[in-house]
Amino acid sequence: GAAVEADISNLKPGERMTVEWRGKPVWILRRTPEMLAELPKLDSQLADPQSKRPMQPAYCQNPVRAIKPEVFVAVGICTHLGCSPVDKFQTGPQPSLPDDWKGGFLCPCHGSTFDLAGRVFKNKPAPDNLEIPPHMYISDSKLLIG
Ligand code: FES
Repeated sequence: GAAVEADISNLKPGERMTVEWRGKPVWILRRTPEMLAELPKLDSQLADPQSKRPMQPAYCQNPVRAIKPEVFVAVGICTHLGCSPVDKFQTGPQPSLPDDWKGGFLCPCHGSTFDLAGRVFKNKPAPDNLEIPPHMYISDSKLLIG
């Protein structure tokens, strides 16, 4: 089948890995407690904070958009025109980002920004949150994507 296994046993807090699924990059980010704590503070700045649009399986339609809160899985392709956003996890001022940036992903093509749950900020070219692919846990440290 088209499903892909990902071993996340070596993925440290704050780190991201990528696996390929159906020719697309799928990101797996192990979020820290600090990263998770920022998410609810951002809701008012987001286009679809409750993830009401169908960009994720039903089991990820929750405030952290994940099965296990610390493990975020998403297709790393911008929902605008398909560029691949880059990590902007660091806090503090960075070029082209607001001074109060709390970390997330920036699309280099037209400047869409996403938080660490892949939720798109308002008034950006990308219309939707990042897609979350179907996935499940085979064990504590193994995911099946697809
Ligand atoms: Fe990402 Fe346009 S492709 S903002």
